[in-house]
Amino acid sequence: MRKPIIAGNWKMNMTPKQAEMLIKDLIPLVKDANTEVVICPPYVDLALAAELCKGTNIHVGAQNVHWAEIGAFTGEISAAMLKELGIEYAIVGHSERRQYFGETDESVNMRTKAALAANITPIICVGETLEIRENGATDAVITQQSEAAFEGIAAADAMRVVIAYEPVWAIGTGKTATNEQANETIGMIRNIINKLYGCEVSSAVRIQYGGSMNPKNASELMAMDEIDGGLIGGASLNAADFAKVVKYYE
Ligand code: PGA
Repeated sequence: MRKPIIAGNWKMNMTPKQAEMLIKDLIPLVKDANTEVVICPPYVDLALAAELCKGTNIHVGAQNVHWAEIGAFTGEISAAMLKELGIEYAIVGHSERRQYFGETDESVNMRTKAALAANITPIICVGETLEIRENGATDAVITQQSEAAFEGIAAADAMRVVIAYEPVWAIGTGKTATNEQANETIGMIRNIINKLYGCEVSSAVRIQYGGSMNPKNASELMAMDEIDGGLIGGASLNAADFAKVVKYYE
């Protein structure tokens, strides 16, 4: 049985003061949730978030992590730095990173390995653009992104990874993939993992859907066989909305 995992990707939102208010509002709302609850605030909020979430059921993740252990990489943050703060997850390869900051399949793989080595759970994002979907190339692109992400990763590590399937055309647009589209593509990703590692790993890896998931559509998406959770952008910035997604089953 895969435990559902709902993660909030705050993106470049929330100053430390705003983060404190949001987290304090969120803690009581999700304290008895059956789902694994993760928030991924901006780097400058992480120390505070980890402190506030200590002793609660909310786990804290970063929005990225660098592949090197240490060194001259201005503006980057290492896995050891995150680990010391008590950060347990890191989003890797979000489509905004790929689109605006030159993230490649190769760098996604390197970041994934660095996270795993530090015992941080990577949330690896894959997804197609609208053009790719309309050209019928979704499966090919998702296969490429997924295989590249797992390159050189041993089965025992692969099992700990979380994947977020996020169609780029559904992110921040209010357009959600249909439940069937999301389920089908996520099933395909599970098949890829099955081919790479076999059934023990593919049935353990949790695969989220992301892209305009909100309190209204969460329960339907989560009812689909293959969907094990959500990566939530916009709706994670409001405590009540995010709590409703976390408790989609109520
Ligand atoms: P959204 O973002 O929920 O605002 O569409 C999801 C994401 O980019 O992770």
